[in-house]
Amino acid sequence: MLEATAFPVAGPLKALVPGVIINEEKILIDPKKPFLCRESLSGQSPKTGPAVTVSINGKAGVRFAHTDIRVPDFSHYRRPDVLNPQKSSQESSESRKTFSYLMTGGSAVLSLYTAKTLITQFVTSMSASADVLAVSKIEIKLDQIPEGKNMTFKWRGKPLFVRHRTEKEIKTEDSVNLAELRDPQHDKDRVVNPKWVIVLGVCTHLGCVPIANAGEYGGYYCPCHGSHYDASGRIRKGPAPLNLEVPYYEFLDDDTVIVG
Ligand code: FES
Repeated sequence: MLEATAFPVAGPLKALVPGVIINEEKILIDPKKPFLCRESLSGQSPKTGPAVTVSINGKAGVRFAHTDIRVPDFSHYRRPDVLNPQKSSQESSESRKTFSYLMTGGSAVLSLYTAKTLITQFVTSMSASADVLAVSKIEIKLDQIPEGKNMTFKWRGKPLFVRHRTEKEIKTEDSVNLAELRDPQHDKDRVVNPKWVIVLGVCTHLGCVPIANAGEYGGYYCPCHGSHYDASGRIRKGPAPLNLEVPYYEFLDDDTVIVG
């Protein structure tokens, strides 16, 4: 505990002036009341620490040090290198730091690996299962579709149009001025082999199934609200905003195509 005492002393510029005693009617200190201090409370106060609180005309209190509280012994959990309080812990600092770094690094690597495994499993669980993937592709034999005809297949629950175009249709669609189109797209960008047009049979207006080889442009016609598509599946007239969608497909050979 720190204690301090102040004494007034004379300075070079200011002489020591004796204190003036002013007699007032009201006595601040009650002389009859025993002044409480550490000594007057001797026997009750513990020997260490600021245990006694006193104030003028106020109540005094004694705070007891609760030395009877039992503190658990954590020695079992402490590192042997720092158990001895008399010994400097500096010598063992390298080995303790190495241990801490190794533990932290190891935990971080383990956490990252666990997180990667969890994320991979989560993402994999969202991808299509094997049975869904099996029906996601359709193989079409093109030699069964005569020239000038359109055949409809069911693919992923939607109608799929496969059209065997004539030379005349190919030339007509190839020469269409893109400026006339609502959804400008060249015929070359919609077909892999100009002889074959493969599109989804879903009207881009409200989803009806258009009729093949009908309409003003000879391609497809949607009777629901009167949308006309050409032989490349491009919208030419009516309320539909976009061309018929071209799915992904690839030719295995000249007569076989796989869609999906
Ligand atoms: S759904 Fe085809 S025109 Fe409306």
